[in-house]
Amino acid sequence: GLLLFTVVFILSADYIKNRRPGSFPPGPRAFPIVGNLFTVDHKRTHESLTQLAGRYGDVYSLRFGQKWTVVLNGYEVLKEALVNQGDSLVDRPELPMLQDINHGRGVIFSNGNIWKQQRRFALSTLKYFGFGKKSLEPIILDEFTYCAKEFNSHEGKPFDPHLVINNAVSNIICALVFGHRFEYGDEKFMKLMTWFGKALETHASIWAQLYNSFPLLMRRLPGPHQTVHHIWNSVKDFIRVELKEHKQNWDPSDKRDYIDCYLKEIQMSKGQADDTFDEENLVACVMDLFVAGSETTSTTLRWAFLYMVKHPEIQAKVQAEIDRVIGQSRQPSIEDRINLPYTDAVIHEVQRMGNIVPLSLPHVTNRDIQLGGYTIPKGVTIIPNLTSVLFDKNEWETPDTFNPGHFLNEEGKFVKPAAFIPFSAGKRLCLGENLARMELFLFFTSLMQHFNFSMPAGVKPVMDFRFGLTMAPVPYEMCVTSR
Ligand code: HEM
Repeated sequence: GLLLFTVVFILSADYIKNRRPGSFPPGPRAFPIVGNLFTVDHKRTHESLTQLAGRYGDVYSLRFGQKWTVVLNGYEVLKEALVNQGDSLVDRPELPMLQDINHGRGVIFSNGNIWKQQRRFALSTLKYFGFGKKSLEPIILDEFTYCAKEFNSHEGKPFDPHLVINNAVSNIICALVFGHRFEYGDEKFMKLMTWFGKALETHASIWAQLYNSFPLLMRRLPGPHQTVHHIWNSVKDFIRVELKEHKQNWDPSDKRDYIDCYLKEIQMSKGQADDTFDEENLVACVMDLFVAGSETTSTTLRWAFLYMVKHPEIQAKVQAEIDRVIGQSRQPSIEDRINLPYTDAVIHEVQRMGNIVPLSLPHVTNRDIQLGGYTIPKGVTIIPNLTSVLFDKNEWETPDTFNPGHFLNEEGKFVKPAAFIPFSAGKRLCLGENLARMELFLFFTSLMQHFNFSMPAGVKPVMDFRFGLTMAPVPYEMCVTSR
């Protein structure tokens, strides 16, 4: 009797507490306690969420555990929310699993003053190294030669490009933050990369959803969510060793890399009100640059290879354009981009179809807002569904087919439709966009200049994906031959 009463009591309390308010966006029926946690296929979350938009409209709601979430779909709604009402959506929700790791520090998941200061500093420092006096361009081109050597060593036999590309792209971030690269196969570095992969996979899994929905319980239960803490602590230790070395031979008048700039910023901002520059935030920001800056670009390149082997005629057209504009006797430069509209269009189409961050990162309303005729109260998690924009039938001629023509006008000039938002939009727009675009262009163009890509004989490319931090192609092998 008592048990029955307790169950009925909990269910009724849950029902009353979690009813959708009247003007709230509609959505599928939520179950007691878990809400819509199992309405969504967590292996294909973005597809589930996009399908639900077909049923409930561009602005709809779900409840994960006790937390209300509103999913935004389509170009018009995302622009209205992230850009026009950007001030109300500038914050990230507090995700217990991340909070337990970064304690509100860094850039990606910080808010308020920490976010403002760390983001401003990151943007200006990336600009300094990306496009200022100390350009990363020669470093990227240099990294390509290491990568090419590795590709050549397979002598045309099938291999999985994953590790090499990961190493190559991570080395750009290493050069940026630490001032040096790591040899491919370096034991310390390989360990770091493997840890990253494992941690990121867990963050994208149902374990993270459960942890964030029921933190008090999950903190006590065993599971993969527990190892994640150890992994991040090891990554932090790795960064702290680099930091210690930088401090030992620091010359305040020389800005070798990000850490040098940061040490200078700590010195300069000392004593200022609201100062957030300290070594803890330094470590958190460096970690954020790694998390956000390695897997993303490397995954995009792995999609690029797959689309090139799937569409040999497009690969050949890219190579012909590169041969005509750059030739074989010099390396590409970022200034070539304007003269390579077809190549540029192909890279953009890879990013659109690759759709590697399909749901952007979550935002949270910091006041009540009006959207699509509904009222969304303060404190509701907002998921900007980038997938619904990158594949929006109203914005793209052939949304589900690889088509570089999406980015070319009648005269073959490069054009960028407004619905191209793989880096999201508004105040939280990816702060590495310029660096990512520079890396993608220089790596892709160099690779196409030197190599032919194909599948092993008799094997067809599989365009399916697997979730980690990013939506990545399932592991594959390809053949690379010199041109
Ligand atoms: C945030 C995409 C490369 C650093 C984001 C967001 C997206 C994104 C969708 C979330 C924006 C939002 O909250 O609305 C991508 C893609 C990349 C890429 C598709 C490559 C193809 C990079 C690189 C870096 C970087 C190379 C750093 C060097 C960041 C940071 C944030 C972020 C720090 C958090 C910004 C904030 O919260 O203020 N990125 N990114 N990203 N990205 Fe990227």
